[in-house]
Amino acid sequence: MALNRTASASLQLMSRFSLLFVVTVTFSGHSLAQGTIRYDAAKQIWQISTGEMTYAIGVNDQHALQTMYWGRRLEGASAMTTPRAYPETASFDPPVSTTPLEYAGWGGGLTTEPALKISFPDGNRSLVLDYVDEERTAGPGGEQLEIRLKDRLAEVYVHLFYKVYPQGILARWSVIENRTKASLTIERAASATLNLPPSTHYEMNWLTGRWGAEWQLHTAAIQAGHTVLESRRGSTGHQTNPWFAIGQAGETTEEAGPVWFGELGWSGSWQIDLEQTDSRRVKITGGYNPFDFAYPLTAGQALTTPVFYAGYTGKGRGEASRILHRFQREEILPGAPRPKLRPIIYNSWEATEFNVNEAGQLALAEKAASIGVERMVIDDGWFGQRKNDHAGLGDWYVNQEKFPHGLKPVIDRVHQLGMDFGIWVEPEMVNPDSDLYRKHPEWAMNFPGRPRTEARNQLVLNLAREDVKAYVLAFLDKLVTENDIAFLKWDYNRNWSEPGWDSAAPAEQKEIYVRYVDNLYSVLSELRRRHPKLEIESCSGGGGRVDLGILKRTEEVWPSDNTDALDRLSIQDGFSHAYTPGIMVAWVTDVPNFLDKRSIPLEFRFLVAMSGALGIGSDVTKWNADETALAQRMVAFYKTVRPTVQQGSLYRLVSPEGSEQSAVEYVGQDGRQAVAFAYLHSQHYGEPFQTVRLAGLDGAATYRVKALDAAKAARLPEEMTGNELMGMGISLRLAGDYDATAIVVEKLTQ
Ligand code: DGJ
Repeated sequence: MALNRTASASLQLMSRFSLLFVVTVTFSGHSLAQGTIRYDAAKQIWQISTGEMTYAIGVNDQHALQTMYWGRRLEGASAMTTPRAYPETASFDPPVSTTPLEYAGWGGGLTTEPALKISFPDGNRSLVLDYVDEERTAGPGGEQLEIRLKDRLAEVYVHLFYKVYPQGILARWSVIENRTKASLTIERAASATLNLPPSTHYEMNWLTGRWGAEWQLHTAAIQAGHTVLESRRGSTGHQTNPWFAIGQAGETTEEAGPVWFGELGWSGSWQIDLEQTDSRRVKITGGYNPFDFAYPLTAGQALTTPVFYAGYTGKGRGEASRILHRFQREEILPGAPRPKLRPIIYNSWEATEFNVNEAGQLALAEKAASIGVERMVIDDGWFGQRKNDHAGLGDWYVNQEKFPHGLKPVIDRVHQLGMDFGIWVEPEMVNPDSDLYRKHPEWAMNFPGRPRTEARNQLVLNLAREDVKAYVLAFLDKLVTENDIAFLKWDYNRNWSEPGWDSAAPAEQKEIYVRYVDNLYSVLSELRRRHPKLEIESCSGGGGRVDLGILKRTEEVWPSDNTDALDRLSIQDGFSHAYTPGIMVAWVTDVPNFLDKRSIPLEFRFLVAMSGALGIGSDVTKWNADETALAQRMVAFYKTVRPTVQQGSLYRLVSPEGSEQSAVEYVGQDGRQAVAFAYLHSQHYGEPFQTVRLAGLDGAATYRVKALDAAKAARLPEEMTGNELMGMGISLRLAGDYDATAIVVEKLTQ
């Protein structure tokens, strides 16, 4: 095991270096519209600019790499002076703590959060990282800077990578390399540290949740001390998403003011530590979660961290999300820079739960197709002895009682109906009541001799094991090869409990936190390589695994099992701060809703689901003629605005938080179409719906204005200028509880 890792880590490093070429000019830069890295050799300062942001670092008089600046884009010659370490402010605050270090080792008296902590075999745990050299390279993907640091005494090297993306995003990660002759143990490895200038007025946004209630947006002042966003659960988690945005209190709003933001690309245990230091600086350190972490490196081995993405805008939280959305579409998602539009899915889960069978699924498929659905997905229950959640996970053969002729007749009929076919899997799990568990009890994650904790009657397979990885890849490959499957809904319905790995040497068992996720990524990538047309949804009992790591390998996500349209407005609003609505699958489901018992009219449910990737999860066979006709009209309408919703620029016009009304708008990439959705959650005192002022339009252009329902937008002119739409806005006649509508504007002039 260790040998493999050594070989692959150093090979990865070597191949990366040999492919790149070194930029030798001492002060070089590309066009300002692009990402650019400018190096001032005399001052030893690198100035990295992209989008609205400049990020600057320099080597100080103590040979340490320190942050010089992160904020508004700087142009032209820099007024930055030669970097100097900050002084000791008191005997309790040494220079390593007062200086905003780029990547601090735990050593030299560091009292703030370290980026790297290492235990050496002789008991030493001190690490002081000095600057060694740098290498700038340019490739098709953009410019990249590598800065090498080394411990003052030991042959431990840290390679800091900075990759500049044109959308205004800087990607940072590190490679920690053991060139000593002995083994050492990494106890904490961050991808990067980001430093903000001193201020006591920072305000941060972050997202928390739980099953059925993900994506809740919080805003709070950053206080002295640490705010820790993290997952210790082995996966990204519903509870906190690895995203943050920081503004200035009293200055930053949805559409104005500075926002520093970041997002971590890792689907395992992670941590983002936001620390207001004694000097009132905010220091953000993100990467592997140090909790229960220990990663041994034998001589010659290296560990690569996840990627921490960072950005800055002066145009408020809305622009911060738009930068992230564009970056995700153009750089992260499969198919980037032009990911495919999401098809309209029908999913059987809420309609049938485990009670799936050939006749039932075919009846749903027939009706779904008549409504305009494009993809039929059979959810949980089709395999093994899966009658409920007590049995079957791990046994990925088609259940003969439910599908006596296999999946083929269903898939063939789905194709005849003009849809493609998808199916649910939960590859990383096993029920103790399964053939797989009876054959391989040792494959479940555990501490030998200790009780195993079940959740939803299931255990987590230890995907860090190569035999488990091979099994998972083989069954998925077989399933997709033998059946014409266009789509997998990849579920993951519990967190880790006893994260043991008894077949590994004791010193290596905690590698599970890294190796499990590496193997998950490798199975996903290999499956996609073998089946290039296959699309995958990341689901983890809802939105428990949404991050930029999984999104490199999955087209879409299921943000929540909560499909109540009112709750969904908040869930979708929160989600949109961190991720593009183009990947946010949203089903229309039956009422009363299974969770909130709320009954919301069908049109409102459709209009809420339409603000992401529309899907249907109702028992459509029970829809009457009126409901069916409404659904057909809604689906047809969605198809006319789908590229704008899924790939346009999102403006959160009126937030649903603490409001009885909300509105959201999308402007298409070419600016020719915009669509606004307005929702009245509950009317009080007969108050009119607030004027909806659009955003992001061309002020001087004329637009044709169309209402989805003319009666809800009375006295709407047929044509308006962009300035009129953004200034005078649109008056809507929404009334009562759960009334909603949509307005589409189309540009008539160039
Ligand atoms: C959890 C998912 O979030 C649901 O949509 C459904 O697929 C169930 N699992 C099936 O067990």
